[in-house]
Amino acid sequence: MRKQPILVTGGAGYIGSHVVRQLGEAGHQVIVLDNLSTGFRASVLYGNLMIGDTGDRAFVTQLLREHDIESVLHFAAHIVVPESVSDPLKYYGNNTCNTRELLAACADAGVKHFIFSSTAAVYGIPPDMECAEDSPLAPINPYGRSKLMSEWMLQDLAAASNLRYGVLRYFNVAGADPGGRIGQSTPKATHLIKVACEATLGKRSHIDVFGTDYPTPDGTCIRDYIHIEDLARAHLLALEHLHNGGESFTANCGYGHGYSVREVLDKVQEVSGVKLDIREAPRRAGDPPALIAKAERIRALLGWTPQYNQLDTIVGHALTWERRL
Ligand code: UFG
Repeated sequence: MRKQPILVTGGAGYIGSHVVRQLGEAGHQVIVLDNLSTGFRASVLYGNLMIGDTGDRAFVTQLLREHDIESVLHFAAHIVVPESVSDPLKYYGNNTCNTRELLAACADAGVKHFIFSSTAAVYGIPPDMECAEDSPLAPINPYGRSKLMSEWMLQDLAAASNLRYGVLRYFNVAGADPGGRIGQSTPKATHLIKVACEATLGKRSHIDVFGTDYPTPDGTCIRDYIHIEDLARAHLLALEHLHNGGESFTANCGYGHGYSVREVLDKVQEVSGVKLDIREAPRRAGDPPALIAKAERIRALLGWTPQYNQLDTIVGHALTWERRL
């Protein structure tokens, strides 16, 4: 086990908190850096929580030096695609400019390993629905562009220094800790499975299907939904890869198959036993018709084997968490 703590930015957020939990369970020392703008103190089950911004270079540099940190996992970001369309500078500010400051702090403090939360949104509209890591990068919304710019900064910094990185491009993350301790707590959530689970509990009167005229079999958008627990595991493996001297890499995090919005809503109704009021609505700005991962690389490179690769399980865990909230 390594002595130095690992810095996790955004560790009080949905994805970061699941990774912090797994790191803690694996015996790592963790320092969480989060400004609690969307994260929750109670979601941080391990380590020390430092309240601050990733864009505060002096503060982050001091933190990194003080704790002799060699490895950083960077989750802190804004993540809502439609909001990025209406408020693009918010996304470029936090996801790109603050990442630049964080990287500068890492360079100042001699950080060696950096894992970056990227997104399938960097691919834009893939011609055949599936995206491999070397597919064209053509994001269609500011969210995807803000993340892609950060990928490029990271690559360029690594080329110019001793830093090695793992870029993980997430597809659609859903579900919750199978142990029921943490989950997605975001108020005013926009993500489909979360929203549908809220609707089953009467927290919402109905659910909109954004667009029914897409060029997909049932006309609704298709996404590759990945269980948060499998995604979190990928981060531990990525870190291990870099700690063992592995090369920098970029890898998709998805299962390699997709479900349409209607299929997801059918599953939520089946698992919950609740009939939802489902309404057809216009397309939502910034949505590509289909995004499915080609997901061989992460298995081959990191030995990642998903354990929760069933929509029933993803929805079941999301529902259990929603009931607890
Ligand atoms: N959708 C609805 N009704 C809702 C909510 C969503 O029809 O109430 C639809 C959306 O229009 C979209 C699909 O469900 O077609 C999935 O939408 P989400 O908001 O759940 O997720 P996104 O695909 O927009 O984005 C998510 C993450 C991004 C990531 C992307 C990768 O938020 O960070 O997945 O596919 F880039």
